[in-house]
Amino acid sequence: MIDLVAGDITGQAVDAIVNAANPTLLGGGGVDGAIHRAGGPAILEECRRLGGCEPGDVKATGAGRLPARYVLHAVGPIWRGGGHGEPELLASCHRRAIELAAELGCKSVAFAAISTGAYGYPVELAAPVAIGATQAALAAQPTVELVRFVFRDEGVLRTYAAELHE
Ligand code: APR
Repeated sequence: MIDLVAGDITGQAVDAIVNAANPTLLGGGGVDGAIHRAGGPAILEECRRLGGCEPGDVKATGAGRLPARYVLHAVGPIWRGGGHGEPELLASCHRRAIELAAELGCKSVAFAAISTGAYGYPVELAAPVAIGATQAALAAQPTVELVRFVFRDEGVLRTYAAELHE
């Protein structure tokens, strides 16, 4: 089941919160900054031992003080005009995060709009890729029962919601 809500991803009481990270996994602004700020230093300490993460891939840590069991650090593509595999890399973030959530026994997963902030992925192009990949991944991972997309911006929420009824 896919749920879309307005709010802050760090407040979501789900089994796994997906971070919008960068390849260093050493923190940043946006979602990354919020997760490390709310979750506390334990998350970064674990990240340091992961040796980074490729775009399109996802690595897990504990969730520190967040109301979740895991943080799944996904590295989205930087938008370079759409001809550099961006859609496949964005889809891969959603698929790999849901696969990893299933492996870890998570029933509920929260996503932000990966790559649509600092990474510049146009929202109207990211929405069908993210929703489509999530729907396909959920079909393949029946133990994951809920994916919740969490948006700061109502407009972005509406753009993603429009893709649910395609
Ligand atoms: N909760 C939910 N959504 C949020 C939050 C939050 N606390 N903070 C930001 N967002 C939204 C943004 O408005 C945007 O729509 O999440 C989306 C993703 O934005 P970014 O966090 O900028 O992520 P991204 O575009 O993937 O850029 C990743 O930014 O923070 C750095 O270290 C990170 O280098 C990496 C890059």
